[in-house]
This record gives sequence, C-alpha cells and structure tokens, in this order.
Amino acid sequence: MAIITIFLPNQKENSNKMDFVQEPPSSLPIDSRGYKPEVYSPGNVVIEVRNLTKTYTMGPTLINALKDVTMDIYRGEYLSIMGPSGSGKSTLFNMIGALDKPTKGEVYLDNILLSSLDQREIAYIRSRKVGYIFQTFNLIGQFNALENVTLPMIFAGLPKSEYTGKGMVILEEVGLGDRYKHKPHELSGGQQQRVAIARALANDPSIILADEPTGNLDLTTGKDIIGLFKGIQEKRGVTFVVNTHDQKMLSNSDRIIWFEDGSIKRIRFRPEVGIEEGTIESKVQFEKN
Ligand SMILES: Nc1ncnc2c1ncn2[C@@H]1O[C@H](COP(=O)(O)OP(=O)(O)O)[C@@H](O)[C@H]1O
Ligand SMILES: [Mg+2]
Repeated sequence: MAIITIFLPNQKENSNKMDFVQEPPSSLPIDSRGYKPEVYSPGNVVIEVRNLTKTYTMGPTLINALKDVTMDIYRGEYLSIMGPSGSGKSTLFNMIGALDKPTKGEVYLDNILLSSLDQREIAYIRSRKVGYIFQTFNLIGQFNALENVTLPMIFAGLPKSEYTGKGMVILEEVGLGDRYKHKPHELSGGQQQRVAIARALANDPSIILADEPTGNLDLTTGKDIIGLFKGIQEKRGVTFVVNTHDQKMLSNSDRIIWFEDGSIKRIRFRPEVGIEEGTIESKVQFEKN
C-alpha cells in the first residue's frame, strides 16, 4: 500500500510567539514539580491560539462560545482546561484539533495555520499529528479492541505486517494486551477508554486532546486513566491537553487554564494552586480574579 506524503504549506516564517509568553510563577521556586523551564520557552510552543472567536447561530440567537481567546500550548506539557459546563472547552477542543473552523482568529499547529489547509491536508493533520479522546470513548462497536486501534494505522497506509504488531504493543502499553479480541460491549468503561487511548496513540501523534475523558467513569477508574496519561506523557514526551470540569482530575497537570463564559479566566502552574502531584484531594486556592 502506498504511503501518502503531504507537504504542508504555509509554514510561518516569523512567528509572533513572543507576543504571549507564559511567565514563570513569581511566587514559587523554579523546580521540577511544576514549572519546567525547558518546556515553557518561547521556542517550544506547539499550538498558538490567536484571537480565537467562535459564534454559533441558532435561529435568531447568536451564541458566543469562544470570545477572542489567545493562548499558547507548549510541547511536552500536560495542560488541563477547566471550566463549568458551557464555558467553551469542547469548542476550543474542536478548533485546536482541526475538527471545526473558527468564526475569527487563528490556530497554528507546529507553525502551520490550520485555516489555510485544504481537506486533504486537514485529514493528514487529524490522522498523524493529533490523537483524540472523548468522554463517550467513540469506539466502533462491531470492531474488537485491536481493530479499533489499528484502523487509524490502516488509514495512514501502514501495511498489515506492521500494524497488527504495533497495535498489540500499544494495547500492552495501556494495560490491555490480554483483551485485544474483546469488542467494546465486552469491556468496562475504563477498559473502553484505554482502547480509545491506544487508538489515539496509533500514529504516534505529538499532541493528545482529551475532552472530559473521565466524565463517564467512576472516581477510581478516572484517576487510573489520568495516571495512564501521565505515564504516556513522561514516556513519549507527548503534549496532553485535557478538558475537565472536575477539580479532582487536575493533579497531573503542569498547568491549568480556567475558562469562563468563552474567555480565559486565569492561567496557573499546578503548584501555584496547591494541588499535590498524584493526589485527588485538591485544595485549590487562588486569588479572586
Ligand atoms: N454546535 C453548536 N451549536 C450551537 N451552540 C453550541 C454548539 N456547540 C456548543 N454550543 C454552545 O456553545 C457554548 C460552549 O459550549 P461547549 O464548548 O460545548 O462548552 P463546554 O465544553 O465547556 O461545556 C454553550 O453555550 C453551548 O451551548
Ligand atoms: Mg464539553
């Protein structure tokens, strides 16, 4: 099978990354617990969001789901996006994952302006650069775990001699090597989410986007899934962007961005908000506004 190669155009020559550099936390010593100087440097930005606005039209009503959002995401960080239901988290997920188009503003992924790409190029980005994880797992019910995981590899042109073995290795990585023949309805919620994680890793993406990945799981299973994310992040160096409205799921974050009503409310490093790494008990503290 032919391997498809696409050369992505429109690489930015002069990035405006310096416009919006995350400041180191002033109140904390710079150490390895939260602020990682090698990660949070202007040259290490993987996603730039600039003045992003998304307005949905519902009959005569306009819904401003995102309002002029500007932020950077750094290569190799674990970023949590927090905010109440309806604050715009999933809309942001769709925009940075090239699943939907903004009304205004830009998203650059690896310096590539997403809105400048055609359908074929967008499909390439979606299958190779980004791995998606959803609250409802979104597995294909008729396929077993291994078939769900290998499907994106088949779309990417990997031969059967490679994709079966690779799929098994990834299923082992998420702790499901012995469940490869099981279909989704033969797996627990936590196991289904592990299959979805394996599928997200299929083509070795540099970014994993997860939208409320623990929303359908009990607390302990949710914590296991978040722990698995952390292990994958450390082993593969992959960037994680995880939407959650649950404070208890923040303990693996390097950085947390709070959304409210379509806008960024605050950005903090985890140690700044009093959350211990690896705990579920959080004593989130921050100043008002
Ligand atoms: N496809 C859509 N059409 C119309 N309104 C939408 C659509 N998707 C989201 N919204 C609205 O946009 C706002 C933000 O939604 P969303 O991004 O899903 O928030 P969150 O993920 O934080 O719960 C909400 O008011 C929601 O009702
Ligand atoms: Mg949502």
